[in-house]
Amino acid sequence: MIIAIDGPAGSGKSTIAREVANRLGLRYLDTGAMYRAVTLLAIEADLVPDRIAEAGDLAAKAQLRFVDRPDDLTRVFIGEREVTDEIRGPVVSGHVSAVSADARVRAVLTEKQRQEVARGDVVLEGRDMGTVVAPQADVKVYLTAGVEERARRRQLQLEAKGMTQSLDELVADITARDAYDSGRELAPLRRADDAVEIDTTGMTIEEVIGAVCRLAAKPSTWPLSRLIRSPLDTWLYRTVYSIVRPAFRLFFRMKVYGVENVPCTGAAVVACNHRSNLDPFFLGCACSRQVHFMAKAELWSFKPLGWVVERFGAFPVHRGEADRQAVRQALDVLAEGAVLGLFPEGRRHRETELGDIRPGVSLFSLRQGAVTVPAIVRGSDRIVRHRLLRFPQVTVTFGAPIEPPGADLPRADRSAEMTRRLVDALHGLLASTQDQA
Ligand code: DC
Repeated sequence: MIIAIDGPAGSGKSTIAREVANRLGLRYLDTGAMYRAVTLLAIEADLVPDRIAEAGDLAAKAQLRFVDRPDDLTRVFIGEREVTDEIRGPVVSGHVSAVSADARVRAVLTEKQRQEVARGDVVLEGRDMGTVVAPQADVKVYLTAGVEERARRRQLQLEAKGMTQSLDELVADITARDAYDSGRELAPLRRADDAVEIDTTGMTIEEVIGAVCRLAAKPSTWPLSRLIRSPLDTWLYRTVYSIVRPAFRLFFRMKVYGVENVPCTGAAVVACNHRSNLDPFFLGCACSRQVHFMAKAELWSFKPLGWVVERFGAFPVHRGEADRQAVRQALDVLAEGAVLGLFPEGRRHRETELGDIRPGVSLFSLRQGAVTVPAIVRGSDRIVRHRLLRFPQVTVTFGAPIEPPGADLPRADRSAEMTRRLVDALHGLLASTQDQA
C-alpha cells in the first residue's frame, strides 16, 4: 500500500501522514526533511544563494537516514550526525524553497524517494508525491487549509517550542512559500487529478486521520467480472428500451439531435449535463449504443434498485472519495470498446445551467485514447415540479466528438486541455440548444 499525501506548508501533512502510517503499520517518509537536510549541507558548503546549482552533488553523496518516532518529528541523520532540530530552524527554512527548486537536487532526491516507494508499504508526504514521485500510489490525498488557519497552527507549534512570531509575519511567510512552491517550473505543488482533496480548515486531527484511513481501507466491493454482461442483460436492456423509448417519445415528445456524433463502434465517453434523476434514462434512450453509466453508489443501498440499474449497464461510484474501483471499472468499459456515460458535474445541478466540471473526468478519455461526446439533456428538470408530475418536452443533443490532446502537448498539460475542451463544448451546446428550453 502506497499512500501519497501532498499539500502546502502548514496543511497538517506531517502530523496526519505520521499517524496514518502508525495506524496502518506502514513506513513513513517525510520528503520535506530530505530537502531540508540537503539545504543544510548546501548552506554549510557556502553554496547558498549563488552556487545552488552545485548542491545536486551534495545531495547525491549525502547518506540520509530517518528514524521514525511515533509521537514526534522523525529523527533525521546525515551520516552519523543528527540534524533533526537544525533542519527545522529559520536559516534552513529561509533557503529550502530555493534549493528544492534546483533541477539536479530534485532529480537526485526524487530517485532516492522512488527507491523507498519500490520497497512498498509507505506513507509519503511532500509536494509532488502524487504527481511525480509515486503517480501509481494506491491512495492520493491533497491536504489544504486556509492561510490564516495554517499560520495559527504554525504559531501554536512555535509557542510549544518557546518561540514567538506574529500571526501577520507567519501569514506572509506561508503565502510567499505557497507562491514559490506552486509557481516553480519543476514538480510544482499541484493536486494530482485523481487525488482526493481534504480541506482541513475546522476539522480536528482525528477527523482528518479518519478520512485518510477510510480511503485506504475501502474494500474492493465491486468485482470487475460484473462488467461482463450476460446475454440476458443485453436482451433485457434492449427489450426495456424498446418499450421506454416510444413511451418517452409519446409522453415527453422526446427529440434527439446529433446522435450521429456517437461513434458506431469502439470506445467512447458520453459526458452529459445533469439536472434530473431521469437523465440517464433519457440519455440511454437517445444513444444508439448501450451506455454504461457511472452512477452514485447510494442507488445500490436499496438492493432492488441497484439490481435494476446494474441491468442497465451502470456501476457504482462513491462520490467525494477516490473510488479507485469505479475508476478501474470505467477504464475497463472503455478497454472493452464500449460507451461510458458520465455526468461530469458530479451531481445534479439545478441552480446553474452547468456546474463546475470535475477535472478528473478527462482521465478516462486520456488514458484510453477514447473520444468524448458532449451531450445536453433539456427539459428533464421540469418533469417533477412541486411534487406534481408534468410532461414537458425533453430533448437530448449530442455534440461533435472531442479528441483527447495528443503528443503535441506536454503530458502534464493534457488533462487541463481536455477538461477545457469539454467545458467549451458543453457551453457551446447549451447555447445552441437554448431555444429548446
Ligand atoms: O514540508 P516541509 O515544509 O518540510 O518542506 C520544506 C520545503 O521543501 C518546502 O518549501 C518545499 C520543499 N519540498 C519539495 O519541494 N518537494 C517535496 N516533495 C517536499 C518538500
